[in-house]
Amino acid sequence: MSALTHEGGEQPKGRYIVLEGGEGVGKTTQIKLLVGRLALFGIETRSDIREPGGTPMGEEIRRLLKDQDLPRAPETNLALFNAARIELQQQVIVPELEANKWVVCDRNRLSSHAYQGHGEGLSLRHVRDECDRATQYAAVDLEMVLWVDEPERQHRLAERGGTDYFEAKDPRFHQRVIAGYEKEATVLGIPYIDGNGSPEEVHERIWEYVEPLTKREE
Ligand code: TYD
Repeated sequence: MSALTHEGGEQPKGRYIVLEGGEGVGKTTQIKLLVGRLALFGIETRSDIREPGGTPMGEEIRRLLKDQDLPRAPETNLALFNAARIELQQQVIVPELEANKWVVCDRNRLSSHAYQGHGEGLSLRHVRDECDRATQYAAVDLEMVLWVDEPERQHRLAERGGTDYFEAKDPRFHQRVIAGYEKEATVLGIPYIDGNGSPEEVHERIWEYVEPLTKREE
């Protein structure tokens, strides 16, 4: 057995990890680093999954949601994000977990709390309830919210360019979303991780929360 393989040498039970946060906080980079670290433990991870998306239906819903030429009510957004989420769990996440694969996903229910609740003004209680119903098919083992200092985030967004329905919303909307993530993390007791510093430094902060999941279950 390799020293890097987790105790027992077998692939541990499938786990579902979610990385959350506003645009430009570094989720994509951190997911790549996390998958690489898990591979050192012999853990096979599915990480090509994004919300909304990840299934044929979900990708169609994604196209609709991002289209700036389609006016809609916040409630419609919530329903569509949740519909994409249901398909993703049923078509992808549940089968992967049943096959003892790990899944690391870019966004989940907290994105709806932050964007449709805090950002678009839907009742938080309603958003949380709707999301709870839509996420009942696969239990998340670990959710984390990543944040970075606002000037750094703005700098990254300016470099990235491109606008879709949500990116085009005014700065106050995005401030509400960012503040909303912090509130949700606090209220729901979810790790709120400092994303400032080098990618490796941030990865170590994330790893502190992930490492315990690599220990084999009795
Ligand atoms: P995406 O390009 O995936 O953003 P990012 O790369 O930053 O994750 O686009 C997803 C957009 O949809 C993003 O603006 C956030 C928004 N969104 C919501 O408003 N509610 C949700 O529940 C989810 C999952 C995303």
